[in-house]
Amino acid sequence: MTPTKLLGIPENFAEHGGGVDHLIDVVHYFMAALFVGWTLFFFYCCFRFWCRRNKKASYQGVQSHVSTHLEIGVVIVEAIMLLGFAFPLWTERTDRYADIQQQDPVRIRVIGYQFAWNYHYPGADGKFGRIDRHLIQTVGDPCIDPADPNGWDDYTSPVLKIPVGRPCILQVTSTDVIHNYAIVPMRIQQDAMPGKDIPMWFRPIQKLETYVVCAQLCGEGHANMRGIMEVISEGAYDSWEAEQSAGASERNKAKEPGLAQQ
Ligand code: CUA
Repeated sequence: MTPTKLLGIPENFAEHGGGVDHLIDVVHYFMAALFVGWTLFFFYCCFRFWCRRNKKASYQGVQSHVSTHLEIGVVIVEAIMLLGFAFPLWTERTDRYADIQQQDPVRIRVIGYQFAWNYHYPGADGKFGRIDRHLIQTVGDPCIDPADPNGWDDYTSPVLKIPVGRPCILQVTSTDVIHNYAIVPMRIQQDAMPGKDIPMWFRPIQKLETYVVCAQLCGEGHANMRGIMEVISEGAYDSWEAEQSAGASERNKAKEPGLAQQ
């Protein structure tokens, strides 16, 4: 029984999630060791510096340099952890982004607003329309420039649908305040900031229907700011995408009389 299982973490559905759970376990074991060590030290001090054993306070205090050496030791250990473990792990994660781009990823923009999520899909052509944030009409608006042909088959959805097995790159943003887009079963989260599209990526390994939540206090409706995510089969995703994209193209042609003749 590992600490993550014991504390009831939701089941993992992402390719990289096992590593995250392992790290959470390691941190819990480390904290348990620190807790036991410091508790023993506390009781030792209570006993060692009891007033009945030490009638008079020492005006010199500690004379040896042991504590200085210990502090230098702590600095060295922390430097090893940062340079030897944290930096290489982060490098691996960021280097993989280049790989992921080659593996036919699904790309979706996630737009947070008070208090829900909106998703902007690039449509059948795989290209997002040009984004111009000055065109904002309403909260959660993806701000697609209607003049850009790449955007004519783009569509939006209040539910995140992604295919199982393919890598997924989400570009996270916001139209009002800072939110945080979190998918616990995918072991991933990212701040949603106005004016920025920040990528996060993962690969779902099983079909699933779950909630996505906001993990940053963002106003009175924060607790209700959750949405639905569906990981579906590749075939179901392709047909849904084709249908939505064709619908968006139709609507845009109807709006633009010049296009209907093409
Ligand atoms: Cu959005 Cu909390």
